[in-house]
Amino acid sequence: MDMKTKILTTSERDIKTAAGIIKSGGIVAFPTETVYGLGANAFAAQAVQKIYEAKGRPCDNPMIVHIARASDISQLALGITKSMVSLIDVFWPGPLTLVAKKKPEVPDETTGGLDTVAVRMPDSAAALSLIRGARCPIAAPSANLSGRPSPTKAAHVIEDLSGKIDAVVAGEDCRVGIESTVIDMTGETPVILRPGLVTADDVKAVIGVDVAIDPSLLKKEVDHALLHPKSPGMKYKHYAPKAEMLIVEGRRGKVAGEIGRLKAENERIGRSVGVILFEEKAFREAAHDFFARLRELDGEGVDLILAGALSDTDGVGFAVMNRMLKSAGYNIARV
Ligand code: TXA
Ligand code: MG
Repeated sequence: MDMKTKILTTSERDIKTAAGIIKSGGIVAFPTETVYGLGANAFAAQAVQKIYEAKGRPCDNPMIVHIARASDISQLALGITKSMVSLIDVFWPGPLTLVAKKKPEVPDETTGGLDTVAVRMPDSAAALSLIRGARCPIAAPSANLSGRPSPTKAAHVIEDLSGKIDAVVAGEDCRVGIESTVIDMTGETPVILRPGLVTADDVKAVIGVDVAIDPSLLKKEVDHALLHPKSPGMKYKHYAPKAEMLIVEGRRGKVAGEIGRLKAENERIGRSVGVILFEEKAFREAAHDFFARLRELDGEGVDLILAGALSDTDGVGFAVMNRMLKSAGYNIARV
């Protein structure tokens, strides 16, 4: 069913309009520092349901709940530990999502039926004033069609969701470019469920205990029998460009050479080829550009995307690599 999607700015007046839509049970896309989110009142099951429909998202995939005041986490979560408070003090507002036991008031629709809830305070003026204006926590997954690269520009959201949502707050391009780090704080050892700009080392430096990395993140092959990630979102095909995609991994010089060779070989048989090759160690830049590059190459209609692997075992490059592997369906060649 098609509806008219309002394109709003980040002016005070437009944010008020957007907040009004959320208050009355509608769904609105908005910028955050990581990627654009598609939001609804986190306490309104029916509103949250609309997000799943607009995205075509499986409804066992829980959402992140966004708040504008750190202390509002107590509306959503139980058992907030000292470690969590330390992480909140250091990293909020910012790209770190904490998973904690949920309060009974948080509907199953928001948490995908889990007894935990994921919460973060985004570092974006527009997002924060939207949440404040709506006077409720906002449940928001990334504002892309399910399976498409996450949106880092308003134009990406419009491309995917125009006609399916009530409004888009078309603000700035996202600074970070990949989604927040998700960390499960419910057990004795914190576990990174999704890597992001805030790394395991960053977390360890604040709370002084070891941080585990969900084993599914360390695999470079799809192994459906073994993959039972705790973050349900990690099991779905993700970020997929329309083109076939291959990652080339190995020593820097060799990777560039092999990409050049494969490009020429494919072009000889009439295929158009796009290349994603970031500067060595420029991991933040890679994070910022990766999803936008995928969409750009899709827009050009390339048949094949060749991407150079980032060599980083646990930092920001690792987080980008996690997205790259999923985009390519774990299609990887080693040189
Ligand atoms: O940066 C971000 O996190 C962006 C912006 C909009 O804030 N949001 C985002 O949402 O990436 P989404 O829905 O695309 O990804 C949320 C991830 C999914 O992998 C989901 O499975 C996981 O967080 N998640 C949510 N609630 C969870 C929970 N209670 N336990 C474990 N994982 C959870
Ligand atoms: Mg997403």
